[in-house]
Amino acid sequence: VNRALVELLRRKESELQQRGIAWRITGVATRKTGWLADAKGFDLNVLLGKSSALPGWANPLLRDDFCDWLSTARANVLLEAISLDPYTGQPAIEYLRAALNMGIHAITANKGPVVHAYRELSTLAAEKGKQFLFESTVMDGVPIFSLFRDHLHGVQVHGFRGILNSTTNVILSGMESGLTFDQALKRAQDVGVAETNPSHDIDGWDATMKVAALVTVVMNTPIRPDQVQREGIRGLNADQVFSAHAAGHPYRLVCRAHRSGEQAEASVRPEQVPANDPLAQVTGTSSVVYFETDIFPGLIITEVNPGVEATAYGMYADFVRAVGTGKAEV
Ligand SMILES: NC(=O)c1ccc[n+]([C@@H]2O[C@H](COP(=O)([O-])OP(=O)(O)OC[C@H]3O[C@@H](n4cnc5c(N)ncnc54)[C@H](OP(=O)(O)O)[C@@H]3O)[C@@H](O)[C@H]2O)c1
Repeated sequence: VNRALVELLRRKESELQQRGIAWRITGVATRKTGWLADAKGFDLNVLLGKSSALPGWANPLLRDDFCDWLSTARANVLLEAISLDPYTGQPAIEYLRAALNMGIHAITANKGPVVHAYRELSTLAAEKGKQFLFESTVMDGVPIFSLFRDHLHGVQVHGFRGILNSTTNVILSGMESGLTFDQALKRAQDVGVAETNPSHDIDGWDATMKVAALVTVVMNTPIRPDQVQREGIRGLNADQVFSAHAAGHPYRLVCRAHRSGEQAEASVRPEQVPANDPLAQVTGTSSVVYFETDIFPGLIITEVNPGVEATAYGMYADFVRAVGTGKAEV
């Protein structure tokens, strides 16, 4: 995601210039590369593996402490896109908390911190006069959170239903066209949506985290992932899926939530939907969410065939929101 973001920042350079935003990447970290920092900024071609480093090009410092890394990089913005831990949201929460405490905007593509620490990190960001933003976490870069936060002022969300996981939708589409479960899974892996170990998707964890993020933020009702009733698509066989589709009631991995007093009830499970339902129209990597609100009885957002650039776009848009105009070290 962050590689795609760097490409996108480059591609949108003139738009950023028009907004008065100058940027450079001054820190890069993964477990394998370690904590690299260079306040002068990295050569993007080297960073993206498009050219090798010239002698003396840069002298990235390897730090072993997160705060030391951020201060050596002189970062204004942290763009966090590490792997999801659905049970704790760590270590991403610690990283985002530390960045905010240092007066650095915290932007994430990772659902864990939203589900496990939304209130804490939002409150901390407000105290520090910085932003905690996470538009990429649900439906890639589609502006769901900013739609409600910045535009649908006062609108109350009573509930929603939708399809929010690409891998399972690609697998179901494959079985509808006559593939076995394993063949359909292989297709999802070949197009790059499913991981080598796709159990987070197939067992409904990814969708559950997205439901919990939407309920927590958009419905303003904290909910833990274990409070979402979860059933993945492992129990469905190819004949069942093929026949249901042929009979006009296809299976979808349906995400649902509705308000129940002060609480919210939520589920992720395979359901058969009528062929004319907006959820039945969504195939492959596309996704959809249908909100029920006090003002708009039905508000549907559909995303058709997103790629990783769409996810990177959510972080790009958050970046622009956070820095407004000015210079940013990322
Ligand atoms: N791909 C998408 O379309 C998409 C869409 C929406 C949201 N997301 C979310 O965005 C995040 C990134 O997704 P991705 O597809 O880019 O994943 P990815 O290709 O697996 O990249 C994850 C990166 O995080 C690093 N990492 C993992 N744990 C770390 C740690 N504790 N400290 C530092 N670095 C760590 C990994 O490198 P090392 O192994 O070297 O540490 C790797 O470079 C995930 O949370 C994912 O759920 C992805």
